[in-house]
Amino acid sequence: MSRFVAIANQKGGVGKTTTTINLAASLARLGHRILVLDMDPQGNSSSGLGIQGNHSKKGVYEVLLGQIAFDEAVCPSVFPGIDVLPSGQKLSGAEVELVSFLEREKILSNALLLVRERYDFIFADCPPSLGLLTINTLTAADSVLIPIQSEYYALEGLTQLLNTIQLVQRSLNRELEIEGILLTMFDARLNLSQQVADEARKFFEGRVYDTYIPRNVRLSEAPSFGIPAIQYDEESSGSRSYLALADEFLSRRQKAESETGQAPVETLSEDEGRSRLSEAVAHQPTPLPVSTPKPPEGVPPPARPSEGEAEVENENSGSPSPAGEEIQTNHVQPTKEEVVNHE
Ligand SMILES: Nc1ncnc2c1ncn2[C@@H]1O[C@H](COP(=O)(O)OP(=O)(O)OP(=O)(O)O)[C@@H](O)[C@H]1O
Ligand SMILES: [Mg+2]
Repeated sequence: MSRFVAIANQKGGVGKTTTTINLAASLARLGHRILVLDMDPQGNSSSGLGIQGNHSKKGVYEVLLGQIAFDEAVCPSVFPGIDVLPSGQKLSGAEVELVSFLEREKILSNALLLVRERYDFIFADCPPSLGLLTINTLTAADSVLIPIQSEYYALEGLTQLLNTIQLVQRSLNRELEIEGILLTMFDARLNLSQQVADEARKFFEGRVYDTYIPRNVRLSEAPSFGIPAIQYDEESSGSRSYLALADEFLSRRQKAESETGQAPVETLSEDEGRSRLSEAVAHQPTPLPVSTPKPPEGVPPPARPSEGEAEVENENSGSPSPAGEEIQTNHVQPTKEEVVNHE
């Protein structure tokens, strides 16, 4: 049974795209069939998976406007097991153009009806807004995964997102659930990150993933090569965290499905997954449309860390401290000590 997860937060730069790409890749590595829907006109999850959506004539925009069928627009990514429905700047026009459509909030849902079951998981990378593109995604999705940056003002604006989710639940998609809350760019050395984690755990009771994503430069370098971080540097702390998140994501899903009596999605061992993927690659009818961006001229690709080399970023990944009761503030202020340390 396929599961459609919207990755959403109207706040910009919180790690929606990084999470879409790397959670998708980590699950594909385990043998799951994945579709990434790039619902953001910035096209970052398309380019981060080796597809230059801006130059593509076929993508989310054309599918939403009913100009072409899903099959004409979907393409394999650089990462085996992941298909992408790409997007580009044209998609920003869709927000306006779709307004006059009948049942405009359900266009994506209708467009995906016949293809959903081809995939185990569909991840939609939402834009940093709560406009029609996000509403369409929430209307089509089974659940929403919310990345929260472990920073000042992290929780500010979440009320607005939760209100939108409630609105969609009431009027367009009763089944919409909160899949989980993911702490991103976490720095275990800062009290601030810890405080954001505590606030999030109080507010979202049991829905915050134990796995958090540390700040890690490999995660920000990988997109410029058009590949997921787990392909770029599998041993980096960022990659390892997303692989751990995939495990936790699956075990939470299995638990939820056993509680509701749904058939769990089949999970392969890593070896089985790899061999199924290499089979899939061997049977690709056409070469992968790799349009991996090259690093700017004169800039050598960043060196991979040699064995034992310490990363500058926080290497920890795991579970910050547990929950309390009710959210107190919209944002967490740094301690005096942190302010001093950062000056
Ligand atoms: N854990 C991390 N460590 C270091 N850099 C990160 C991490 N997660 C994301 N980044 C970087 O932070 C920036 C914002 O991340 P990303 O693009 O994933 O956020 P977003 O929520 O999709 O942004 P937008 O709202 O603009 O779509 C990017 O440059 C990305 O490479
Ligand atoms: Mg993004």
